[in-house]
Amino acid sequence: MSYKIAPSVLSADFGNLQKDIEMINQSEADWFHVDIMDGVFVPNISFGFSVMTPLKKLATKPLDVHLMIVEPDKYISKFADAGAAVLTVHAEACPHLHRTIQAIKAAGMKAGVALNPHSNTQLLADIMGDIDLVCLMSVNPGFGGQSFIENTYRKIEQLKNWQAQQNVNFEIEIDGGVTLNNYKKLIETGATVLVAGNTVFSAENPSAIISQLKQ
Ligand code: DX5
Ligand code: ZN
Repeated sequence: MSYKIAPSVLSADFGNLQKDIEMINQSEADWFHVDIMDGVFVPNISFGFSVMTPLKKLATKPLDVHLMIVEPDKYISKFADAGAAVLTVHAEACPHLHRTIQAIKAAGMKAGVALNPHSNTQLLADIMGDIDLVCLMSVNPGFGGQSFIENTYRKIEQLKNWQAQQNVNFEIEIDGGVTLNNYKKLIETGATVLVAGNTVFSAENPSAIISQLKQ
């Protein structure tokens, strides 16, 4: 089974960001997961374009940008310019999700949709063929280092069923509380991208943890 590991920059050392970017570049990680929080959609503020700039300059792997912001449509072209390869918006923040997905693709990026833990996968039934990635939030978004919500396994299975029924394909990304204890079961259930913040960056040897997550 092939799958991707996307370390979350949110848990990196912002006092020495270059060091952590280079660590990810040299590791077995596949993507950089970049969490943008506005303090409105989620109860936390992370960072914006001033951090995207050094990321774009230094990162040698695709930037997987997760927008936890209201009115994401306003910033689609700015994130394309900032180097996002995948741009994920929250279904809960988009009243016209189909239009938003088309706009992301028209700007040259892969389009992702994130679902909060309370949101049903059924919400995406009529647009599954348009989506490149579904990000299942396995914690309530806003902070790193939270505990994994077990119901996520059921949601992965539902997405797998939708894929088979509709003959469509998209990445199934799991975001929040991924650890060395649950990553195998997540992959076996059908996840294709695992985001990992705390598990990677709280370790003494983050690169070795990334290698372990790839095994
Ligand atoms: C949570 C963010 C996650 C977070 C994951 O709101 O979307 O990407 O960085 O962190 P961990 O792996 O520590 O749960
Ligand atoms: Zn995220």
